[in-house]
Amino acid sequence: MAKKANDVSWTPEMLEKGGYPHFMLKEIHEQPKALRNALSLRLEVCQEAARILNDSQQVYITAAGTSNHAGLAGRYMFTKLSRVRTQNILSSEFPELTGELLCEDDVVLAISQSGETADTINAVKHAKRQGAKVISVTNVVGSTMSKLSDYTIYTYAGPEYGLAATKTFLVQVACLSLLSLDLSLMRGSLSDGEVKTLREGLMNTPYVVDRTIKRQDRVVRDVAYQFANKQSFLFLGRGISTATAMEGALKLKETAYIHAEAYPAGEFRHGPMALIEPGFPVIIIAPPDETYDRLVKNLGEVKVHQAKIISVVQEDDSEVRALSDHAISIPETAPMFSPITFVVPLQLFAYFVAFRRGYNPDKPRYLVKAVTEP
Ligand code: F6R
Repeated sequence: MAKKANDVSWTPEMLEKGGYPHFMLKEIHEQPKALRNALSLRLEVCQEAARILNDSQQVYITAAGTSNHAGLAGRYMFTKLSRVRTQNILSSEFPELTGELLCEDDVVLAISQSGETADTINAVKHAKRQGAKVISVTNVVGSTMSKLSDYTIYTYAGPEYGLAATKTFLVQVACLSLLSLDLSLMRGSLSDGEVKTLREGLMNTPYVVDRTIKRQDRVVRDVAYQFANKQSFLFLGRGISTATAMEGALKLKETAYIHAEAYPAGEFRHGPMALIEPGFPVIIIAPPDETYDRLVKNLGEVKVHQAKIISVVQEDDSEVRALSDHAISIPETAPMFSPITFVVPLQLFAYFVAFRRGYNPDKPRYLVKAVTEP
């Protein structure tokens, strides 16, 4: 039977969790601090990595799970802001999909929180054999992946004990954002003024995340409890928010054992729309970016079939809010870096749904923190 929030009783173990009932919730609340650390990354670390990327002919981003979602956001920024040819390839598919095609002018950006994920290490080894350069982004100093790489960027999120990656996703996206800004300056794809404005927006994200957690915690919990008995969820986004949608769906699957699917909202019309029935919960990620108007149109198409709409919107939003059954608000933030801020309510949502269903989100069944078996 579903538990209520105030069923949590205090145990000695909770002290080690800083008073939170679970590591996942503690780590969600630690995100502003982790983000500030990541954003204070020494300038020269990013610049050296940006220089290696700038000299490349092609950039491949490879990772698994949540780190792959950070990589998808990274590709969007590299392509849009820095105008660098970038491809994402899941690390488990990397050797097969790149075959013998890599060369010494290619750079592989491997992302792994643990630095020990077998598939990602295998991808790195494959890239090295082909002569490509490897930059790794990891949270663990001295990890296997960092030892194999030509260059490493550490994310400094601190240890993550909850099995579901939360703060490490935010810091990965933050590092890729910093990289992308340096790369944009080097390539002249953005002016100094444009980079300055974007950098200010990025530096403000810890504040936005902090406000979101403090102001929306209750709202998200109430919505999560209302929907906790649903069998299936759909997450829709466009552009960079497709990565956010995928991360939100993954959190819900792994912690609450609910089927959740993420789709780019435009693609959703090409078949999967047939799934929508009255009451079907659809979570829309709607930052005010260049995809907003088309997203509103897609939202209207889903709404016609009487889906229940839960949206994540900026505070001043009116259009998506008007179409939604429930809206969760984020303070004004730089839309280009929206995965950092808009994912936070989705993490809380997964946490509260899991809790309501009586599961321990820190220890999802069958899962381990790092999949080290090849
Ligand atoms: C999801 C999660 C996993 C990991 C994946 C990669 O919450 O934790 O999907 O993201 O196993 O792990 P790393 O980043 O350590 O390579």
